[in-house]
Amino acid sequence: MLILNKTAGVFSKPSKRKIYEFLRSFNFHPGKQFLHKLVLGIETSCDDTAAAVVDETGNVLGEAIHSQTEVHLKTGGIIPPVAQQLHRENIQRIVQEALFASKVSPSELSAIATTIKPGLALSLGVGLSFSLQLVDQLKKPFIPIHHMEAHALTIRLTNKVEFPFLVLLISGGHCLLALVRGVSDFLLLGKSLDIAPGDMLDKVARRLSLIKHPECCTMSGGKAIEHLAKQGNKLHFDLKPPMQRAKNCDFSFSGLQHILDRIIMQKEKEEGIEKGQILSSAADIAAAVQHTTACHIAKRTHRAILFCKQRGLLCQSNAVLVVSGGVASNLYIRKALEIVTNATQCTLLCPPPKLCTDNGIMIAWNGIERLRAGLGILHDTEGIRYEPKCPLGVDISKEVGEAAIKVPRLKMKI
Ligand code: KG4
Ligand code: ZN
Repeated sequence: MLILNKTAGVFSKPSKRKIYEFLRSFNFHPGKQFLHKLVLGIETSCDDTAAAVVDETGNVLGEAIHSQTEVHLKTGGIIPPVAQQLHRENIQRIVQEALFASKVSPSELSAIATTIKPGLALSLGVGLSFSLQLVDQLKKPFIPIHHMEAHALTIRLTNKVEFPFLVLLISGGHCLLALVRGVSDFLLLGKSLDIAPGDMLDKVARRLSLIKHPECCTMSGGKAIEHLAKQGNKLHFDLKPPMQRAKNCDFSFSGLQHILDRIIMQKEKEEGIEKGQILSSAADIAAAVQHTTACHIAKRTHRAILFCKQRGLLCQSNAVLVVSGGVASNLYIRKALEIVTNATQCTLLCPPPKLCTDNGIMIAWNGIERLRAGLGILHDTEGIRYEPKCPLGVDISKEVGEAAIKVPRLKMKI
C-alpha cells in the first residue's frame, strides 16, 4: 500500500551531510565487544519522540524521550502538523541521547527498529525518513514495527510471560483486545467502534475545564478524572455502560461522551454557571464516568477471557491478561479488571507505568523479539512505506460476537 503520498513528498528529510555529522559525533570504542544483539528503537507514531537501545536479554542500555503533551494540552488536542514539526525538531537529539546513554556506537548495533504503523501519517513519516537515512549510512538491517504489537510484547521484557496470553490495550488512541499467540501472531477479539477510552476521558475533562482546576492543571484528562473521582460520588449520576446488548468484545465510548456533554450542559444551567467554569458536581461526574468506563472495559474483557477458554485458546488454570496503554495506569480500572481476573482464575499483569505509555524501549524490544524469531528483518528498504491505519493480526471479532457468550454478573465493589 502506497502511503507516502504527495504530502509526504514535502517532508524535509535530514540531509546526508547532517546524518554523517550525527554519526561522527559518536566516539567509537574499537576494543569493546557486545555479547548480545543490540537494537536501536525509534518511536514517533503520535506525540512522543522516543528512542532506546535494548539488548537481547532485555537490558535497557540507554533511552530518551521528548513528550509533546504540554503543547497539545494547551491547544486542546493534537494538531498533526504541530506534532510533525516537534518530531522534526527533536528526533536527532533524542536518538543521539539514547545512543550516548547506552555507550553503544552506531556501528555496534545489530539492527534499527522503527514504528511504521499505525499512527499519525505526519508523525510516522518523520521517524521513518530519519531511520532510513541512518540504516542507509550504517548498512544495518531495518525492522519495521507495528506500534500495537510493540505495546503487546512489552510485558515479555519485564516479566517471564509465555505465549499465548490475552492483551487489553487502552489509551488515548488505542482500544483493543487481542490474543497474542506469538511475536507476530495475533487474533483480534474486539476493538472500539468509535473513540478510545483515553480520548473520551480527555474530552470529558476538557468539557469540565479541569485544566483550570488547581489540583489537576498539569494532569492529562484521564489522570485528572481519576484524581477528582476520589472526591466524588459515582452514584449521583445513573450512567449505563455502553453496548450492554451486544454480546461481543467490541467497545464504544462516544455515546458516553455525548451523554456526559448533555449532563454537563444541564448542570451548568442548574448551577447558573458559564461553560468554562468548574461545576460543583465535577467530582461526581468524574466518579460516574470513571466507574462506567471501568465496568464497560471489565465486561468486554471478561467475555474475551471466557471466549478464549471456551475455545481452548488460553490455558484453563493459569491464563495471563496483560493490560497496557496510558489508561492502564488508572487504578480504579485496574481494580475492576482484577475482579474479573480473580473470578476467572487469571493472572493480571501490567508493565510499569513508564512502559505502558509510548516509549522507545518497547520498539527496541519488539526489534529484539523479531530478531530472535527471524521475522520481518529487512536488508533492503526499497519501497518501505508507513501505514497510518493498520489492523493488528487476524480479526475474529465477528466469530466472538456469534458465540454470544453471556457474561456472569460480577459485583463491581471497587
Ligand atoms: O498511551 P498514552 O500515553 O498515549 C496514547 O494515547 O497512545 O495514553 C494517553 C492517554 C490519555 O488519553 C490520558 O488521558 C490517559 O491515557 N490516561 C489516563 C490516566 N493517565 C493517562 N486515563 C485514565 N486514568 C489515568 N490515570
Ligand atoms: Zn501507543
